[in-house]
Amino acid sequence: EFHMKTYLVTGAAGFIGANYLKYILKKYDGKEDIKVIVVDALTYAGNLGTIREELKNSKVKFEKVDIRDRKETERIFSENEVDYVVNFAAESHVDRSIENPQIFLETNILGTQNLLENAKKAWTVSKGENGYPVYRDGVKYLQVSTDEVYGSLSKDYEKAIELVIEDEKVKNVVKDRTNLKTYGDKFFTEKTPLDPRSPYSASKAGADHIVLAYGETYKMPITITRCSNNYGPYHFPEKLIPLMIKNVLEGKKLPVYGKGDNVRDWLYVEDHCKGIDLVLREGKEGEIYNIGGFNEEQNINIVKLVIDILKEEITNNDEYKRVLKTNLDNINYNLITYVQDRLGHDMRYAIDPSKIARDLGWYPETDFETGIRKTVKWYLENQEWVNEVISGDYQKYYEEMYGGK
Ligand code: NAD
Ligand code: TYD
Repeated sequence: EFHMKTYLVTGAAGFIGANYLKYILKKYDGKEDIKVIVVDALTYAGNLGTIREELKNSKVKFEKVDIRDRKETERIFSENEVDYVVNFAAESHVDRSIENPQIFLETNILGTQNLLENAKKAWTVSKGENGYPVYRDGVKYLQVSTDEVYGSLSKDYEKAIELVIEDEKVKNVVKDRTNLKTYGDKFFTEKTPLDPRSPYSASKAGADHIVLAYGETYKMPITITRCSNNYGPYHFPEKLIPLMIKNVLEGKKLPVYGKGDNVRDWLYVEDHCKGIDLVLREGKEGEIYNIGGFNEEQNINIVKLVIDILKEEITNNDEYKRVLKTNLDNINYNLITYVQDRLGHDMRYAIDPSKIARDLGWYPETDFETGIRKTVKWYLENQEWVNEVISGDYQKYYEEMYGGK
Protein backbone atom coordinates (compact mmCIF):
# COMPACT_ATOMS: atom_id res chain seq x y z
CA GLU A 1 0.00 0.00 0.00
CA PHE A 2 1.22 3.44 -0.92
CA HIS A 3 1.87 5.86 1.87
CA MET A 4 2.93 9.48 1.55
CA LYS A 5 5.85 10.44 3.76
CA THR A 6 5.80 13.67 5.72
CA TYR A 7 9.17 15.09 6.70
CA LEU A 8 9.62 17.57 9.50
CA VAL A 9 12.95 19.24 8.73
CA THR A 10 14.27 21.71 11.29
CA GLY A 11 16.92 24.31 10.47
CA ALA A 12 16.22 24.11 6.73
CA ALA A 13 16.79 27.85 6.29
CA GLY A 14 20.43 27.25 7.23
CA PHE A 15 23.34 25.89 5.23
CA ILE A 16 23.00 22.09 5.32
CA GLY A 17 19.26 21.98 6.01
CA ALA A 18 18.53 24.12 2.93
CA ASN A 19 20.75 21.91 0.79
CA TYR A 20 18.92 18.89 2.20
CA LEU A 21 15.50 20.35 1.38
CA LYS A 22 16.62 20.97 -2.20
CA TYR A 23 18.11 17.47 -2.36
CA ILE A 24 14.99 15.56 -1.23
CA LEU A 25 12.63 17.62 -3.40
CA LYS A 26 14.80 16.76 -6.41
CA LYS A 27 15.31 13.14 -5.39
CA TYR A 28 11.65 12.28 -4.89
CA ASP A 29 10.22 14.57 -7.57
CA GLY A 30 7.81 12.52 -9.68
CA LYS A 31 8.87 9.30 -7.94
CA GLU A 32 7.33 9.38 -4.52
CA ASP A 33 4.89 11.68 -2.82
CA ILE A 34 6.48 13.58 0.04
CA LYS A 35 5.44 16.54 2.13
CA VAL A 36 7.95 18.68 4.01
CA ILE A 37 7.33 20.87 7.01
CA VAL A 38 10.20 23.26 7.46
CA VAL A 39 10.67 24.45 11.03
CA ASP A 40 13.15 27.26 11.54
CA ALA A 41 13.44 30.13 14.03
CA LEU A 42 15.32 32.23 11.45
CA THR A 43 18.26 33.20 13.60
CA TYR A 44 21.11 35.17 12.02
CA ALA A 45 22.10 31.89 10.30
CA GLY A 46 18.70 31.16 8.79
CA ASN A 47 17.51 32.87 5.64
CA LEU A 48 14.22 32.24 3.90
CA GLY A 49 15.59 33.59 0.63
CA THR A 50 17.85 30.55 0.45
CA ILE A 51 14.77 28.36 0.05
CA ARG A 52 12.55 30.90 -1.71
CA GLU A 53 11.88 28.61 -4.71
CA GLU A 54 11.24 25.56 -2.54
CA LEU A 55 8.69 27.47 -0.44
CA LYS A 56 6.59 28.01 -3.58
CA ASN A 57 6.23 24.24 -3.88
CA SER A 58 2.83 23.14 -2.57
CA LYS A 59 4.52 20.15 -0.91
CA VAL A 60 6.47 22.46 1.40
CA LYS A 61 5.07 24.26 4.41
CA PHE A 62 7.07 26.73 6.47
CA GLU A 63 6.71 27.25 10.21
CA LYS A 64 8.70 29.99 11.89
CA VAL A 65 9.07 28.17 15.18
CA ASP A 66 11.85 27.81 17.70
CA ILE A 67 12.60 24.15 18.47
CA ARG A 68 12.67 25.10 22.17
CA ASP A 69 9.01 26.19 22.00
CA ARG A 70 6.98 23.35 23.52
CA LYS A 71 3.50 24.62 22.66
CA GLU A 72 4.29 25.44 19.06
CA THR A 73 6.15 22.18 18.51
CA GLU A 74 3.20 20.27 19.91
CA ARG A 75 0.85 22.16 17.60
CA ILE A 76 2.93 21.25 14.54
CA PHE A 77 2.89 17.57 15.46
CA SER A 78 -0.86 17.64 16.09
CA GLU A 79 -1.63 19.39 12.79
CA ASN A 80 0.51 17.09 10.65
CA GLU A 81 1.02 13.36 10.46
CA VAL A 82 4.80 13.51 10.66
CA ASP A 83 6.71 10.37 9.62
CA TYR A 84 10.28 11.62 9.73
CA VAL A 85 11.99 14.22 11.90
CA VAL A 86 15.36 15.39 10.62
CA ASN A 87 16.91 17.81 13.10
CA PHE A 88 19.43 20.25 11.60
CA ALA A 89 18.43 23.20 13.80
CA ALA A 90 21.36 24.22 15.95
CA GLU A 91 23.77 26.92 16.88
CA SER A 92 26.67 25.77 14.74
CA HIS A 93 29.63 28.13 14.97
CA VAL A 94 32.47 27.18 17.36
CA ASP A 95 33.76 30.77 17.65
CA ARG A 96 30.34 32.02 18.72
CA SER A 97 30.10 29.18 21.27
CA ILE A 98 33.30 30.44 22.85
CA GLU A 99 31.82 33.95 23.14
CA ASN A 100 28.36 32.86 24.32
CA PRO A 101 27.98 29.20 25.30
CA GLN A 102 24.53 29.33 26.86
CA ILE A 103 22.42 29.60 23.72
CA PHE A 104 24.23 26.49 22.44
CA LEU A 105 23.01 24.46 25.38
CA GLU A 106 19.50 25.86 25.08
CA THR A 107 19.01 25.25 21.37
CA ASN A 108 21.19 22.22 20.81
CA ILE A 109 20.31 20.23 23.93
CA LEU A 110 16.94 21.49 25.19
CA GLY A 111 15.64 22.06 21.66
CA THR A 112 16.54 18.50 20.71
CA GLN A 113 14.86 17.08 23.82
CA ASN A 114 11.71 19.09 23.05
CA LEU A 115 11.55 17.63 19.53
CA LEU A 116 12.09 14.12 20.86
CA GLU A 117 9.41 14.50 23.51
CA ASN A 118 6.82 15.81 21.07
CA ALA A 119 7.67 13.18 18.46
CA LYS A 120 7.33 10.49 21.13
CA LYS A 121 3.89 11.76 22.17
CA ALA A 122 2.65 12.11 18.61
CA TRP A 123 3.98 8.74 17.49
CA THR A 124 2.82 6.63 20.44
CA VAL A 125 -0.20 4.49 19.50
CA SER A 126 -0.36 2.27 22.57
CA LYS A 127 1.59 0.85 25.45
CA GLY A 128 3.28 -2.53 25.05
CA GLU A 129 3.09 -5.33 27.63
CA ASN A 130 6.53 -4.54 28.98
CA GLY A 131 5.67 -0.87 29.46
CA TYR A 132 7.48 0.50 26.42
CA PRO A 133 5.48 2.74 24.08
CA VAL A 134 4.40 1.25 20.74
CA TYR A 135 4.89 3.62 17.82
CA ARG A 136 3.10 4.20 14.55
CA ASP A 137 4.71 2.20 11.72
CA GLY A 138 7.45 3.77 9.66
CA VAL A 139 8.32 6.74 11.85
CA LYS A 140 11.90 7.80 12.53
CA TYR A 141 13.86 10.58 14.22
CA LEU A 142 17.27 11.47 12.76
CA GLN A 143 19.68 13.70 14.66
CA VAL A 144 22.23 15.52 12.51
CA SER A 145 25.38 15.51 14.59
CA THR A 146 29.04 16.21 13.98
CA ASP A 147 32.43 14.53 14.17
CA GLU A 148 33.41 17.26 16.66
CA VAL A 149 31.71 15.28 19.46
CA TYR A 150 34.67 12.86 19.31
CA GLY A 151 37.10 15.61 20.27
CA SER A 152 40.46 16.17 18.62
CA LEU A 153 42.81 13.70 16.95
CA SER A 154 46.58 14.06 17.03
CA LYS A 155 48.38 15.23 13.95
CA ASP A 156 51.13 12.67 13.55
CA TYR A 157 52.70 13.99 10.34
CA GLU A 158 53.73 17.52 9.45
CA LYS A 159 53.41 16.57 5.81
CA ALA A 160 50.55 14.29 4.85
CA ILE A 161 51.42 10.67 4.13
CA GLU A 162 49.74 8.33 1.69
CA LEU A 163 46.44 6.87 2.89
CA VAL A 164 45.97 3.19 2.17
CA ILE A 165 42.48 1.66 2.28
CA GLU A 166 42.28 -2.14 2.32
CA ASP A 167 38.56 -2.95 2.39
CA GLU A 168 37.07 -3.16 -1.12
CA LYS A 169 33.71 -1.71 -0.09
CA VAL A 170 35.35 1.17 1.75
CA LYS A 171 37.56 1.87 -1.27
CA ASN A 172 34.36 2.78 -3.07
CA VAL A 173 34.31 5.99 -1.03
CA VAL A 174 37.44 7.20 -2.84
CA LYS A 175 36.93 5.58 -6.23
CA ASP A 176 38.73 7.26 -9.16
CA ARG A 177 40.73 9.42 -6.77
CA THR A 178 44.50 9.61 -6.61
CA ASN A 179 46.69 11.34 -4.01
CA LEU A 180 44.88 9.90 -1.03
CA LYS A 181 46.48 11.26 2.12
CA THR A 182 46.22 11.58 5.86
CA TYR A 183 47.86 13.62 8.60
CA GLY A 184 47.52 10.96 11.29
CA ASP A 185 47.21 7.30 12.18
CA LYS A 186 43.89 7.46 14.00
CA PHE A 187 40.39 8.14 12.69
CA PHE A 188 37.02 8.68 14.35
CA THR A 189 34.83 5.57 14.24
CA GLU A 190 31.34 5.24 15.72
CA LYS A 191 32.99 3.49 18.70
CA THR A 192 35.38 6.35 19.48
CA PRO A 193 34.47 7.65 22.98
CA LEU A 194 32.93 11.11 23.00
CA ASP A 195 35.39 13.76 24.15
CA PRO A 196 34.01 17.17 23.16
CA ARG A 197 36.23 20.14 23.94
CA SER A 198 34.36 23.27 22.84
CA PRO A 199 31.00 24.56 24.13
CA TYR A 200 29.64 23.82 20.64
CA SER A 201 30.81 20.22 20.51
CA ALA A 202 29.86 19.65 24.16
CA SER A 203 26.33 20.79 23.38
CA LYS A 204 26.16 18.52 20.33
CA ALA A 205 27.43 15.59 22.42
CA GLY A 206 24.77 16.37 25.05
CA ALA A 207 22.15 16.27 22.32
CA ASP A 208 23.45 12.94 21.03
CA HIS A 209 23.26 11.44 24.51
CA ILE A 210 19.64 12.51 25.00
CA VAL A 211 18.73 11.11 21.56
CA LEU A 212 20.32 7.78 22.51
CA ALA A 213 18.56 7.91 25.87
CA TYR A 214 15.14 8.20 24.14
CA GLY A 215 16.19 5.27 21.96
CA GLU A 216 17.01 3.08 24.97
CA THR A 217 14.49 4.26 27.54
CA TYR A 218 11.43 4.59 25.32
CA LYS A 219 12.58 2.39 22.39
CA MET A 220 12.08 5.35 20.09
CA PRO A 221 13.19 4.75 16.48
CA ILE A 222 16.18 7.08 16.36
CA THR A 223 19.41 7.36 14.36
CA ILE A 224 22.34 9.74 14.53
CA THR A 225 24.67 10.84 11.73
CA ARG A 226 28.04 12.40 12.53
CA CYS A 227 29.59 14.22 9.61
CA SER A 228 32.88 16.00 9.02
CA ASN A 229 33.21 19.65 7.89
CA ASN A 230 30.85 20.53 5.04
CA TYR A 231 31.44 23.05 2.26
CA GLY A 232 29.35 24.19 -0.70
CA PRO A 233 26.66 26.71 -1.72
CA TYR A 234 24.70 28.71 0.91
CA HIS A 235 27.44 28.41 3.54
CA PHE A 236 27.22 31.40 5.88
CA PRO A 237 30.28 33.64 5.45
CA GLU A 238 31.49 33.28 9.02
CA LYS A 239 32.88 29.78 8.43
CA LEU A 240 36.36 29.27 6.97
CA ILE A 241 35.77 28.75 3.24
CA PRO A 242 32.99 31.28 2.53
CA LEU A 243 34.68 33.86 4.77
CA MET A 244 37.95 33.55 2.88
CA ILE A 245 36.15 33.89 -0.47
CA LYS A 246 34.35 37.00 0.76
CA ASN A 247 37.50 38.62 2.11
CA VAL A 248 39.52 37.94 -1.04
CA LEU A 249 36.83 39.59 -3.17
CA GLU A 250 36.94 42.63 -0.90
CA GLY A 251 40.73 42.72 -0.80
CA LYS A 252 40.62 42.13 2.97
CA LYS A 253 43.17 40.23 5.05
CA LEU A 254 42.56 36.50 5.50
CA PRO A 255 42.67 35.67 9.22
CA VAL A 256 44.27 32.26 9.70
CA TYR A 257 44.16 31.01 13.30
CA GLY A 258 47.43 29.93 14.92
CA LYS A 259 49.85 28.40 12.45
CA GLY A 260 47.15 27.36 10.00
CA ASP A 261 48.22 23.76 10.48
CA ASN A 262 44.97 22.43 11.98
CA VAL A 263 43.43 19.69 9.88
CA ARG A 264 39.79 19.36 8.88
CA ASP A 265 38.10 16.64 6.80
CA TRP A 266 36.02 18.30 4.05
CA LEU A 267 32.88 16.90 2.43
CA TYR A 268 30.71 18.48 -0.28
CA VAL A 269 27.38 19.35 1.34
CA GLU A 270 25.24 17.42 -1.15
CA ASP A 271 27.11 14.22 -0.33
CA HIS A 272 26.28 14.77 3.32
CA CYS A 273 22.61 15.25 2.39
CA LYS A 274 22.66 12.03 0.40
CA GLY A 275 24.09 10.20 3.42
CA ILE A 276 21.46 11.63 5.78
CA ASP A 277 18.56 10.57 3.58
CA LEU A 278 20.09 7.14 3.09
CA VAL A 279 20.43 6.64 6.85
CA LEU A 280 16.88 7.91 7.37
CA ARG A 281 15.46 5.45 4.84
CA GLU A 282 17.76 2.46 5.25
CA GLY A 283 19.79 2.92 8.41
CA LYS A 284 19.28 0.62 11.37
CA GLU A 285 17.24 1.95 14.26
CA GLY A 286 19.29 3.03 17.26
CA GLU A 287 22.52 3.21 15.26
CA ILE A 288 25.09 5.92 14.67
CA TYR A 289 26.65 6.48 11.23
CA ASN A 290 29.76 8.56 10.57
CA ILE A 291 29.80 10.42 7.25
CA GLY A 292 33.04 11.61 5.61
CA GLY A 293 35.01 11.18 2.41
CA PHE A 294 38.67 10.75 3.48
CA ASN A 295 39.51 14.31 2.55
CA GLU A 296 41.84 15.83 5.15
CA GLU A 297 43.57 19.13 4.59
CA GLN A 298 45.38 21.76 6.66
CA ASN A 299 43.62 25.12 6.90
CA ILE A 300 46.49 27.03 5.30
CA ASN A 301 46.33 24.83 2.21
CA ILE A 302 42.58 25.38 1.95
CA VAL A 303 43.10 29.14 2.13
CA LYS A 304 45.81 29.07 -0.54
CA LEU A 305 43.68 26.91 -2.80
CA VAL A 306 40.76 29.34 -2.47
CA ILE A 307 43.08 32.20 -3.45
CA ASP A 308 44.43 30.25 -6.45
CA ILE A 309 41.01 29.25 -7.78
CA LEU A 310 39.54 32.72 -7.32
CA LYS A 311 42.47 34.28 -9.14
CA GLU A 312 42.21 31.83 -12.02
CA GLU A 313 38.44 32.07 -12.41
CA ILE A 314 38.40 35.85 -12.30
CA THR A 315 41.33 36.13 -14.71
CA ASN A 316 39.55 33.92 -17.22
CA ASN A 317 36.04 35.33 -16.95
CA ASP A 318 35.15 39.00 -17.43
CA GLU A 319 31.75 38.51 -15.79
CA TYR A 320 33.49 37.64 -12.53
CA LYS A 321 35.62 40.79 -12.64
CA ARG A 322 32.51 42.84 -11.86
CA VAL A 323 32.23 41.09 -8.51
CA LEU A 324 35.74 42.06 -7.46
CA LYS A 325 35.99 45.04 -5.10
CA THR A 326 39.79 45.18 -5.31
CA ASN A 327 42.53 44.97 -7.91
CA LEU A 328 43.14 41.57 -9.47
CA ASP A 329 46.85 42.00 -8.59
CA ASN A 330 45.91 42.14 -4.89
CA ILE A 331 44.73 38.54 -5.00
CA ASN A 332 47.78 36.71 -3.71
CA TYR A 333 49.16 34.97 -0.61
CA ASN A 334 50.10 38.32 0.96
CA LEU A 335 46.47 38.58 2.00
CA ILE A 336 47.07 35.79 4.50
CA THR A 337 47.55 37.01 8.06
CA TYR A 338 48.17 34.74 11.01
CA VAL A 339 46.07 35.77 14.00
CA GLN A 340 45.71 34.60 17.59
CA ASP A 341 44.66 30.98 17.77
CA ARG A 342 41.10 29.94 18.64
CA LEU A 343 40.83 29.01 22.34
CA GLY A 344 41.03 25.24 22.78
CA HIS A 345 41.44 24.83 19.01
CA ASP A 346 40.95 21.16 18.02
CA MET A 347 43.98 20.01 16.03
CA ARG A 348 42.61 17.41 13.68
CA TYR A 349 39.34 15.78 12.62
CA ALA A 350 39.26 12.69 10.38
CA ILE A 351 36.26 10.42 9.78
CA ASP A 352 36.37 6.70 9.16
CA PRO A 353 33.21 6.17 7.05
CA SER A 354 33.62 2.37 6.80
CA LYS A 355 30.28 1.60 8.44
CA ILE A 356 28.06 3.69 6.16
CA ALA A 357 30.08 2.55 3.14
CA ARG A 358 29.83 -1.16 4.00
CA ASP A 359 26.32 -1.32 5.45
CA LEU A 360 24.51 1.21 3.26
CA GLY A 361 26.76 1.53 0.20
CA TRP A 362 27.27 5.28 0.65
CA TYR A 363 29.99 7.09 -1.28
CA PRO A 364 30.47 10.77 -2.21
CA GLU A 365 29.70 11.94 -5.76
CA THR A 366 31.86 15.06 -5.69
CA ASP A 367 35.61 14.99 -5.15
CA PHE A 368 37.27 17.97 -3.48
CA GLU A 369 38.84 19.51 -6.59
CA THR A 370 35.49 19.55 -8.36
CA GLY A 371 33.55 20.62 -5.29
CA ILE A 372 35.76 23.50 -4.22
CA ARG A 373 35.80 24.97 -7.74
CA LYS A 374 32.03 24.60 -7.99
CA THR A 375 31.71 26.33 -4.62
CA VAL A 376 34.01 29.24 -5.52
CA LYS A 377 32.12 29.76 -8.79
CA TRP A 378 28.80 29.61 -6.94
CA TYR A 379 29.93 32.46 -4.69
CA LEU A 380 31.18 34.46 -7.68
CA GLU A 381 27.76 34.05 -9.28
CA ASN A 382 25.70 34.59 -6.12
CA GLN A 383 27.08 37.70 -4.47
CA GLU A 384 23.54 38.96 -4.08
CA TRP A 385 22.86 36.08 -1.71
CA VAL A 386 25.97 36.90 0.31
CA ASN A 387 25.05 40.58 0.56
CA GLU A 388 21.53 39.79 1.62
CA VAL A 389 22.41 37.26 4.32
CA ILE A 390 24.85 39.58 5.96
CA SER A 391 22.72 42.70 5.74
CA GLY A 392 19.65 41.20 7.36
CA ASP A 393 17.58 41.88 4.25
CA TYR A 394 16.18 38.42 4.49
CA GLN A 395 14.65 39.23 7.85
CA LYS A 396 12.83 42.11 6.18
CA TYR A 397 11.85 39.80 3.36
CA TYR A 398 10.32 37.50 5.92
CA GLU A 399 8.30 40.28 7.54
CA GLU A 400 6.96 41.28 4.13
CA MET A 401 6.09 37.76 3.16
CA TYR A 402 4.90 36.32 6.45
CA GLY A 403 4.33 39.38 8.66
CA GLY A 404 1.08 39.19 10.59
CA LYS A 405 0.48 35.52 9.74
P1 NAD B 1 23.64 26.81 10.20
O1 NAD B 1 24.09 27.61 11.36
O2 NAD B 1 23.98 27.25 8.82
O3 NAD B 1 22.03 26.67 10.23
C1 NAD B 1 21.32 26.43 11.41
C2 NAD B 1 19.83 26.66 11.15
O4 NAD B 1 19.11 26.36 12.35
C3 NAD B 1 19.48 28.10 10.78
O5 NAD B 1 18.54 28.12 9.74
C4 NAD B 1 18.87 28.66 12.07
O6 NAD B 1 17.93 29.70 11.83
C5 NAD B 1 18.23 27.42 12.65
N1 NAD B 1 18.07 27.52 14.11
C6 NAD B 1 19.01 27.87 15.02
N2 NAD B 1 18.49 27.84 16.26
C7 NAD B 1 17.19 27.45 16.12
C8 NAD B 1 16.14 27.21 17.05
N3 NAD B 1 16.31 27.39 18.38
N4 NAD B 1 14.94 26.79 16.58
C9 NAD B 1 14.75 26.62 15.25
N5 NAD B 1 15.71 26.84 14.34
C10 NAD B 1 16.92 27.24 14.76
O7 NAD B 1 24.16 25.33 10.48
P2 NAD B 1 24.63 24.19 9.45
O8 NAD B 1 26.06 24.38 9.16
O9 NAD B 1 23.66 24.10 8.35
O10 NAD B 1 24.50 22.91 10.39
C11 NAD B 1 23.29 22.17 10.45
C12 NAD B 1 23.47 21.00 11.42
O11 NAD B 1 24.53 20.15 10.96
C13 NAD B 1 23.86 21.42 12.83
O12 NAD B 1 23.16 20.59 13.74
C14 NAD B 1 25.35 21.15 12.90
O13 NAD B 1 25.74 20.84 14.21
C15 NAD B 1 25.49 19.96 11.98
N6 NAD B 1 26.79 19.80 11.30
C16 NAD B 1 27.35 20.84 10.62
C17 NAD B 1 28.56 20.66 9.94
C18 NAD B 1 29.19 21.77 9.12
O14 NAD B 1 30.29 21.59 8.59
N7 NAD B 1 28.55 22.91 8.95
C19 NAD B 1 29.19 19.42 9.96
C20 NAD B 1 28.59 18.36 10.66
C21 NAD B 1 27.38 18.58 11.32
P1 TYD C 1 35.15 26.57 10.91
O1 TYD C 1 34.72 26.80 9.49
O2 TYD C 1 34.72 27.54 11.95
O3 TYD C 1 34.69 25.08 11.26
P2 TYD C 1 35.05 24.17 12.59
O4 TYD C 1 35.75 25.00 13.58
O5 TYD C 1 33.71 23.74 13.08
O6 TYD C 1 35.88 23.04 12.08
O7 TYD C 1 36.73 26.49 10.92
C1 TYD C 1 37.44 25.55 10.16
C2 TYD C 1 38.91 25.66 10.53
O8 TYD C 1 39.39 26.94 10.07
C3 TYD C 1 39.17 25.63 12.03
O9 TYD C 1 40.36 24.92 12.26
C4 TYD C 1 39.33 27.09 12.40
C5 TYD C 1 39.91 27.72 11.16
N1 TYD C 1 39.53 29.12 10.89
C6 TYD C 1 40.53 30.07 10.63
O10 TYD C 1 41.73 29.77 10.63
N2 TYD C 1 40.15 31.36 10.38
C7 TYD C 1 38.84 31.75 10.37
O11 TYD C 1 38.55 32.95 10.16
C8 TYD C 1 37.83 30.77 10.62
C9 TYD C 1 36.38 31.14 10.63
C10 TYD C 1 38.24 29.46 10.88
